[in-house]
Amino acid sequence: MIEELLWGLAVLVLSVAALKIVVFGTVFRHEIKATLERDPAASGPLTVLLTYPGLHALIAYRMAHALHGAGLRFPARVLSQASRFFTGIEIHPGARIGKGLFIDHGMGVVIGETSVLGDNVTLFQGVTLGGTGKDKGKRHPTLGNNVTVGAGAKVLGNIRIGDNVSIGANAVVIRDVPPNSTVVGVPGRIARREGRRTSESADLDHGNLPDPLQQALERLRREVHKIEHELREGHESQERQRERRGDKNAG
Ligand SMILES: CC(C)(COP(=O)(O)OP(=O)(O)OC[C@H]1O[C@@H](n2cnc3c(N)ncnc32)[C@H](O)[C@@H]1OP(=O)(O)O)[C@@H](O)C(=O)NCCC(=O)NCCS
Repeated sequence: MIEELLWGLAVLVLSVAALKIVVFGTVFRHEIKATLERDPAASGPLTVLLTYPGLHALIAYRMAHALHGAGLRFPARVLSQASRFFTGIEIHPGARIGKGLFIDHGMGVVIGETSVLGDNVTLFQGVTLGGTGKDKGKRHPTLGNNVTVGAGAKVLGNIRIGDNVSIGANAVVIRDVPPNSTVVGVPGRIARREGRRTSESADLDHGNLPDPLQQALERLRREVHKIEHELREGHESQERQRERRGDKNAG
């Protein structure tokens, strides 16, 4: 009797799991395809469905977004925070996300409430689509289609990132970016537009970005050097005057 019950339970669990795989596999086919296309390490649809935190976060987000849209904001937030706990990816239920989003690795990704993402966007770990802390209302970025945001990059404020834009790892973008461009550095500068190097990038040695702290220290060092030099000169001229007075007295 117990054996039959256990078998029944096992069949039920497996059927539910298979059903879930079929349903999620169908509903999220664009995202699974995007992952297989953009991650060379992705070995198959089932692996993506079962082991990719980016996809799990997106599944939870779609449910939370539906709750949010239905006015159930508290359950939506609870679901979004539970998803964050398991995946390390925080997507506000109010964000609007198109088809084919791929979040690689995921940990540390934040997508703010009024963010809008077009189709086929790729986000790497540590990306923030955030506000600047000053504005209310629409305060997060709008990303076009086919945008890639590199690991650790921050895209801040109600700015527009055009279609086919690549944002370099660790860039901090706070201004609009035209389509078909590459943005790198802090603050983000357009290094390439329509496949060509831009004048904005001409003065930017990417391997050796200016460090404001180092520049301030260098200015301070020069000032100290100047003051030392002036003090030494003053001291020497006093010495000379004293010597001259001594010579006169002796004479
Ligand atoms: C920006 C990026 C998308 C390349 O785009 P691209 O259009 O092919 O641009 P290029 O490689 O031709 O680089 C353009 C310029 O930006 C510089 N650059 C590229 N990435 C940069 C970065 N992250 N930070 C600063 N400068 C960077 C290049 O040195 C080049 O400078 P140059 O014109 O003086 O030679 C890529 O470098 C990048 O950062 N991708 C993110 C990948 C990532 O996060 N991977 C994580 C995997 S876990």
